[in-house]
Amino acid sequence: MKKYLIAGNWKMNFTSNEAISFVNQLILHLSELNLEQIDVLLCVPFTNLHPIKSFVNSNLVKIGAQNMHFEEKGAFTGEISPLMLLDAGCEYVILGHSERRQYFLENNDILSKKIISALSHNLVPIFCIGETLSQRQANLTFQVLESQLNVLETVPKEFLSNIILAYEPVWAIGTGLNASKEQIIEAHLWINDHVIDRFHVQLPILYGGSMNNDNAKDILECKMVSGGLIGGASLKILQFIDIINTAISLSQQG
Ligand code: PGA
Repeated sequence: MKKYLIAGNWKMNFTSNEAISFVNQLILHLSELNLEQIDVLLCVPFTNLHPIKSFVNSNLVKIGAQNMHFEEKGAFTGEISPLMLLDAGCEYVILGHSERRQYFLENNDILSKKIISALSHNLVPIFCIGETLSQRQANLTFQVLESQLNVLETVPKEFLSNIILAYEPVWAIGTGLNASKEQIIEAHLWINDHVIDRFHVQLPILYGGSMNNDNAKDILECKMVSGGLIGGASLKILQFIDIINTAISLSQQG
């Protein structure tokens, strides 16, 4: 039976009141469900972490961040440390999201430090990889994925199995144009085989990129898809609940 992770990535959205109202509605819904085969996660802006902490029951909803610095503390103006995330109730942290790579110039060196730091603080990194449209059109998809996965070379072997990967084709993020089933299956199988061959470990692989309640079933039933990293649709409570319901019914089908 597949165990899905349905993860919302709120990005830079929601004030604390909006966040609390969303979480309350979500918990009301989740408390009536059997969540044995699914984990629900919200990766929220830093300023929402403490406000929602007291509303969240981690059996129902887990909380994560969207980025972190690798140091525990110090003179890094504007940054948030792994200790601060733990203090705020985080269990997960998204690292290497394409928006961080594009706008904040995060590269393999910095991501290696962040992933190792997260793991050594017992935070589960959701490590995002994916190609741009021009890279796909130039047939460079697997070369790009391989070079992004070089980061795993730097992670101590005993930590590797605690990483979650997210395949997020950049051209599908926020565009309304999700990857096709064939593209998703091809990429997920390639990533799965590559990681097993190279690092001798099998990691869960989420799909992200314009996933919504209309396409969730098609995406989640693809081979090697362990769940979704959902941006836009995770801000709409009814859509997000719909995706969770889809994952539950698929997991019950086996
Ligand atoms: P999207 O974002 O669902 O809005 O495409 C996904 C992501 O960026 O993680």
